[in-house]
Amino acid sequence: MTALRPIRLVVVAGARPNFMKIAPLFRELKARARFEPCLVHTGQHYDPAMSDAFFRDLGIPEPDLNMGVGSGSHGAMTAQVLLEMEKVLEAQRPDAVVVVGDVNSTVATSLAASKLGVPVAHVEAGLRSFDRGMPEEINRLVTDVLSNWLFTTEPSGGANLLREGIPEEKIHFVGNVMIDTLKANRARAGELDTLERLGLASGGYAALTLHRPSNVDEPERLAALFDVLEEVHREIPIVFPVHPRTRAAIGRLLGDRQLALRTTEPLGYLDFLRLMSDARFVLTDSGGIQEETTVLGVPCLTLRENTERPVTIHQGTNTLVGNDPATIRAEVRKILDGEAPSGRIPERWDGHAAARIVDVLERDLG
Ligand code: UD1
Repeated sequence: MTALRPIRLVVVAGARPNFMKIAPLFRELKARARFEPCLVHTGQHYDPAMSDAFFRDLGIPEPDLNMGVGSGSHGAMTAQVLLEMEKVLEAQRPDAVVVVGDVNSTVATSLAASKLGVPVAHVEAGLRSFDRGMPEEINRLVTDVLSNWLFTTEPSGGANLLREGIPEEKIHFVGNVMIDTLKANRARAGELDTLERLGLASGGYAALTLHRPSNVDEPERLAALFDVLEEVHREIPIVFPVHPRTRAAIGRLLGDRQLALRTTEPLGYLDFLRLMSDARFVLTDSGGIQEETTVLGVPCLTLRENTERPVTIHQGTNTLVGNDPATIRAEVRKILDGEAPSGRIPERWDGHAAARIVDVLERDLG
């Protein structure tokens, strides 16, 4: 009997929100004898707190290759990943490349692969904010049009793709790999001393994250946002792990303003999961956190005008508040008065998305 030919995949991660998505995928691929996965880190995020801590927390093996592209303008970063990825794919000639999410590394890889005729699997396809002012929206549109497999997390994803003319047979509603990771790690996070270390009582604080250009790149908007957040902080303490992009923006735009919030360095995955789980509510402009709070049943106020993840509003605990102080104040008040939406867990956010994805790839590439 001749052995079956191995299926060779290049799996790509670049920035913090990618790492929790590739962890369950890579584990599933490694567990199946048929696959030979190769992990490539583009190096878009490179600070230990933005990268290494996640590999460690999530038990992701050392990348087979680290491109070390680092920071730069969108054009520079995308171009560098494109150049480097072309070399990697030409040398490796994999059966397919797997990309996740919507960061610059995702779009650059899809472009390099599709020009070389390497099929692209996009995990978390079809999400749309309908706001082309967001760099991620451009990345999503381009990646999806180039992809051969489009793995979606929620019904809106499939509907958006069909409207854009993507053939139905390329679209697979598999659920959410980020939630695979959350479910696999929730118990471990529950054992950490995160709250003790930060001097917090369960349910007695709010957690904040902020990094979107629309919130942090314009001085007046950023200052007004901090004004209202500091007001909320006087009522319930706000813990704020600060993204490097935001730290730089505060220094550049707000001079020596000392925030009255409880700031920390960026936290690792497990500490942040613990912080979210025990928060009275979360304030954020992140995409993934809207999904994680929905599964945790923690109210989430999203500091954006739109979301590409509408299921978190229709079924989950998410409310869009933009950056209008009156709306933020009113929605915080509702939560403190016990009127937060309780929500339910969206379909197929059950911890088995990675297995569904790998089933499809094995069927199609085997
Ligand atoms: C990127 C993603 C965004 C994601 C976010 C999460 C794109 C277009 N955006 O945005 O979708 O939600 O990551 O973090 O890909 N920096 C460091 N150390 C690092 C990484 C970044 O100091 O490890 C600083 C650099 O000054 C950099 C800035 O943060 O210029 C922004 O980083 P960048 O990767 O460009 O984009 P993010 O805003 O983090």
